[in-house]
Amino acid sequence: MDETPAVPFHIAIIMDGNGRWAQARGLMRALGHRAGAEAVRRTVEAGRELGVRVLTLYAFSWENWDRPAEEIRGLMDLLVEFLKAETPRLRANQIRLQAIGRLEELPHRARATLQQVIDDTASGDAMTLVLALSYGGRQELVDAARRIAALVREGRLLPEHITEAHIASHLYTADLPDPDLIIRTSGEMRVSNFLLWQSSYAELYVTPTLWPDFTKAELAEAIAAYQHRERRFGRSQPSPRQDEAIGPAGRRQVVG
Ligand code: IPE
Ligand code: IPE
Ligand code: MG
Repeated sequence: MDETPAVPFHIAIIMDGNGRWAQARGLMRALGHRAGAEAVRRTVEAGRELGVRVLTLYAFSWENWDRPAEEIRGLMDLLVEFLKAETPRLRANQIRLQAIGRLEELPHRARATLQQVIDDTASGDAMTLVLALSYGGRQELVDAARRIAALVREGRLLPEHITEAHIASHLYTADLPDPDLIIRTSGEMRVSNFLLWQSSYAELYVTPTLWPDFTKAELAEAIAAYQHRERRFGRSQPSPRQDEAIGPAGRRQVVG
């Protein structure tokens, strides 16, 4: 058996602390977000270099729509600018872009640019970069419930036949494995409506570092911490092959 501890297949990051980073420097929050975008660029590159296969970044939550209109506008402009600037690099590094969330709520320009970059990077097979935008874990479950209820109403599914796999396959993350490691920056010990279903057995890592200060070294540190964790998935012994036991909830078989 290979004794080298596996790099987490899927890392998801709650990128928090842009505002505090700016405030500590007497700058506008917008400049914190700009520095945050630079940290995104660095982290994507670092993830790819360290062998992460799926990197999900929580960029804008459902609840973030409650922020001042000017801040939202700035974030959406920054998203478009970032996507356009990064496309060549994503393509050169075989990184495929995906997005999860209520994307229909995004301004037209952001949505169109996002779709363009998703299409332009579709053949990337080294890493999948998933941006969580207008994303909320509860809203995702509501949307899944609506779609499953519609199948039942159409007579295509019986309520007693609904399994974990059905629910997983109606989430925005239907085609993605569950996260192995969730990192949150800026020290907050909460999940803020992120990947509620998918995080059931994710390892958590919280760092006090503010998002704009996050580096490749810190990502490597989080991965090293993960490699020392003992994942049990409810069993009395650690799972022998950490990477095999995970997969989307829908793919795990209930034994016995
Ligand atoms: C994270 O930084 C970025 C988004 C949520 C869009 P914040 O803007 O939440 O920064 P703090 O938490 O106020 O420091
Ligand atoms: C979580 O950060 C959302 C994102 C990182 C996009 P928030 O700053 O919105 O979370 P709370 O309000 O501190 O829980
Ligand atoms: Mg915050």
